[in-house]
Amino acid sequence: MIRNFKFRGIIILSTLIVLSSVLIINLTSEKKSDGVEYVIGMSQANLYEPWRISMNEEIMNEVKKYKNVKIIYKDAGGDTNKQKDDINELVNDGADLLIVSINDSEQLTPVVSKVYKSIPVILLDRAVEGYDYTLYIGTDNNSIGRQAGHMVKGLVGSKQGKVIEVQGLLDSPPVISRSEGFREELKGSKNIEIARTVIGEWQRDETEDKITEVLKEDKDIDVIFAHNDYMALGAYKAAYNLGIKNIKIIGVDGLPDENGGLDLVSKGILSGTFTCPTGGKEAVDYAMNILNKKEATPKRIILRSDKVTIDNVSKYLNRKVTVSGKHKKIILGYAQLKSESSWRDENEESIKEAAKEAGVDLVFLESGTNQEDQKKLIRELIKMKVDIISFSPFVESGWDDVLKEAKNAGIPVVITDRTVDSDDTNWVSSIGSDFLEEGKRVARVLMEHCDKHKTNILEIKGNTGSTPSIERDQGFRETIKNYSNYKIIKSDVGNFTYKGGKEVTEKFLRANKNKINVLYAQNDDMALGAIEAIKEYGLIPGKDIIVLGIDGTQRALDSIKMGQMYCTIGCNPILGPQLIKTVEQIMTGNEVPLKIISSEDIFAKDNSGKF
Ligand code: AHR
Repeated sequence: MIRNFKFRGIIILSTLIVLSSVLIINLTSEKKSDGVEYVIGMSQANLYEPWRISMNEEIMNEVKKYKNVKIIYKDAGGDTNKQKDDINELVNDGADLLIVSINDSEQLTPVVSKVYKSIPVILLDRAVEGYDYTLYIGTDNNSIGRQAGHMVKGLVGSKQGKVIEVQGLLDSPPVISRSEGFREELKGSKNIEIARTVIGEWQRDETEDKITEVLKEDKDIDVIFAHNDYMALGAYKAAYNLGIKNIKIIGVDGLPDENGGLDLVSKGILSGTFTCPTGGKEAVDYAMNILNKKEATPKRIILRSDKVTIDNVSKYLNRKVTVSGKHKKIILGYAQLKSESSWRDENEESIKEAAKEAGVDLVFLESGTNQEDQKKLIRELIKMKVDIISFSPFVESGWDDVLKEAKNAGIPVVITDRTVDSDDTNWVSSIGSDFLEEGKRVARVLMEHCDKHKTNILEIKGNTGSTPSIERDQGFRETIKNYSNYKIIKSDVGNFTYKGGKEVTEKFLRANKNKINVLYAQNDDMALGAIEAIKEYGLIPGKDIIVLGIDGTQRALDSIKMGQMYCTIGCNPILGPQLIKTVEQIMTGNEVPLKIISSEDIFAKDNSGKF
């Protein structure tokens, strides 16, 4: 059977020929002819991995839909220096936007940073360090690793199991994350041993050679997890040629064509694979939004990765994207939290406005301030048979029951603003902020301001158990933890309200007099309440006590201008346009991202230009 494989070399070669013919186009002249308005430069790390070829093809197919756009490809052939030159050439030749799938994140960070100052940059698959890019699109590699570990457990069962992990390039970001997730998942399984780690460099033949050597020494291997299907195929060939039949092999990517992961699963060559969308389609979609200056662009998009085995492979092989562009009138049910803050008011307005603009019928229900109330509203929406449900979860845990009820009723759920810890098979997409990063940002601003001074902090938190409260706290603490001059001397709950912030501060000041010089509130409303309490107590906010908030509300910006609040970290409430876009994509049969994470700024005295 192995001899019948049509290997991909031919496909790679033919694709290269097609792509290289695109390379010789002169950007500037192209821009001026044939109604071309925009030129997108695409810098690809290499084209010897089938997954990257598929990414380029996806981009090419998507770009064809736009008559006013040309795309110019460059292939770095796995050479980071060549990719630096490619990127610079594309920019110098006048590209309006750059899509980059990076070879080496660390080395290319300064190049991308520089480009980002002049044109928008979309990163695919691997991010650079820091935030100097417009949008990142990729999968959750840690989750892929964990899912693979889980599959290994199922394949091994209760007997003793010996496993080989075949990694891509040593120390590349997806390898690190997949491996970490894989090992975390297997950590507690005493019967499973990761006997060997092999570096297959993402290549089939390299892997075949290395696994052949390993299996000659040790035939007693139960499972091989390869970080991509191409290497998984190499591992299979090695075992097959040595006449070893019982090894179960798992890959990643799930490409649909011949010898792609889906094909290999359907032929029983792989026990499973995990889909790893390339993001090509989404990159072009968002590139067009950016170029046409449509709705605000998110900062990060995480694509869904599904487990595929022989039991469900036909569903993926026969998957037709039935994108109609048209849909019936959509009824969106939204279960909002009762407004606790000005952030919430803006958020509500944005959802209502976006629905109105798109002609979506919005059933907007507002709950009390607890989870049970909110569940009641969701159940009401299920009874009403709305097309899609969305809600901003009051707390993170305890949603399984109601989410399953919606799923059983065939109603997709989009989580907005905060997140849930329920399995992602119970919901379709989630849109919101990176609360962990927000917490880290507050801490960084504080550390820059207070440097080495002794700093006693009062922390005022939002409602207990909510994602912003958990993650902002975690981000803040993680960042200050190694600096002994920063001490959180008290942490109390203000429930994200002005009143809560004021009461906590009053109580603290009365009991502790002048013990703090910094007040960190997890949102602006609480920070402003705290400022009121500080003034009433006879102290001067901004002088006696530095006040830090999160949200970037107008009142916080005004307070910064008056010198009372020191800074606020942006938390984007304008989630309506992304929500409606996602809802429409679901209703037209499009795949939607697993997570859409907003783009956010820092607002402080010294960057008032951003007001
Ligand atoms: O979930 C978003 C947070 O909740 C906002 O920071 C806060 O103001 C709101 O109450």
